[in-house]
Amino acid sequence: MRIRSLLFAAVAAMLPATSWAGPERVDFPAGYRDAFVEYLRVDRPDRKTTRFFYVDPESLAAAEPGRELPQGTVLIMEDHKVVMNGDKPALNAEGRHRPTDEVTNVFVMEKRPGWGAEYPLETRNGDWDYAWFEADGSRKQGDFVRFTGCFSCHMNRANRDFTFTFFKYLLDTKG
Ligand code: HEC
Repeated sequence: MRIRSLLFAAVAAMLPATSWAGPERVDFPAGYRDAFVEYLRVDRPDRKTTRFFYVDPESLAAAEPGRELPQGTVLIMEDHKVVMNGDKPALNAEGRHRPTDEVTNVFVMEKRPGWGAEYPLETRNGDWDYAWFEADGSRKQGDFVRFTGCFSCHMNRANRDFTFTFFKYLLDTKG
């Protein structure tokens, strides 16, 4: 009996405590184009895309510049193909790309209470988790999302609550 329960405890200790952390708990924010606020557009000539950035309206209203972002914040980065001119993006009169409706990636980051607790400190991005979708909401994922890519790069912005654009947007507009 005793050995059995010891064995059981040993096996339980080997199971990853992080079994439910990961991209699966980030839902595709269906309907975000109508329900969310588009706060920024960035042309990326290197990627031949224009990126559209969205935030849920409740978090936009509650967020304060220079402070940690509210729990429940959902940020989206949507890559659009652009009209091309030969091998370069065609530009409009303002020198901007001309995005098409064709979406190639939907990147989502979402923050919920306690979500970060299951990640080791060297990986953890506060309480954020990340997910990567096709335009239709099906998941693109694999180890890149789960363990390394998203977390390690966004770690560079730990002092801006792990965001590249939104924290700065708040400082610029509400600060
Ligand atoms: C190589 C570094 C890098 C990796 C890897 C990366 N990101 Fe980002 N992310 C950025 C940069 C830089 C921006 C700002 C937009 C830009 O300049 O293109 C950004 C912006 C975002 C945004 C908009 C909010 C913000 O922080 O500005 C979301 C959402 C996002 N990324 C999610 C993801 C997800 C999900 C993954 C993993 C699948 C991921 N990112 C992987 C660098 C990275």
